Amino acid sequence: MSLEIDVFATLNGIPDEAINNKAIIVIDALRATTTITVALAAGCLEVIPVLTPEEAIEMRERLGDERVLLGGERNALKIPGFDLGNSPLEYTTEIVAGKRLIITTTNGTRAIRRAAGGRLVFLGAMINAPAVAGLAATAATDITIICAGTRDRFSLEDFLTAGLLVDQLAGQGEFVLRDGAQAARDYYYCHRVDPAAALKASFHGRLLADLGLEADVEFCSRVGATDVVPVYGGGIIKKAS
Ligand code: MLT
Repeated sequence: MSLEIDVFATLNGIPDEAINNKAIIVIDALRATTTITVALAAGCLEVIPVLTPEEAIEMRERLGDERVLLGGERNALKIPGFDLGNSPLEYTTEIVAGKRLIITTTNGTRAIRRAAGGRLVFLGAMINAPAVAGLAATAATDITIICAGTRDRFSLEDFLTAGLLVDQLAGQGEFVLRDGAQAARDYYYCHRVDPAAALKASFHGRLLADLGLEADVEFCSRVGATDVVPVYGGGIIKKAS
């Protein structure tokens, strides 16, 4: 029986059957899954995604580990009292190597937590799409791609990245594309010559630019810039070995 790929454009209405026992790829291209990928690439030991700033602070106290950093955003800006925001450019080796990161973002960490029932849960972004597709294609199970979206609304940047992933996956095996996957790939085909321009033109891309964060958008657009694949399991994100 052929394996299926499906894409969910927001977290709304994803049936449990599309998650349980599937290989999941969670996307928040601007910027959470990009930032987490960069943190792990820079030597961060592990990342713990949580839903609220209060949960993050409480967990840091409970862990009582001086290697713990708090990162994340609300309204795209660093949370007061946190060590880091949600810009991938902040997560340098000097700052995160050998550290544990607790992160909370508006949509990204919520999407990651929604994927908790998956057999394998990968975090995808433009910067690691070829590597994620390479690993997910070997999972020998249906693949569900979850777009974080923006507060339950459709986000172009996540759907575009989903389409890129579908395209890469389809090149590596005999997959049946459900309609969500086909639509995402078709959308990606419209922009594959210049995906960076599409990211820039997206609602969230423009919002980040208005905040002076256009360098983040450019960074997040670099398709295949890293081979690092974050894997989520048991509440923790680590680098796939
Ligand atoms: C989110 O989780 O909503 C984001 O990653 C927003 C951002 O910081 O750009």
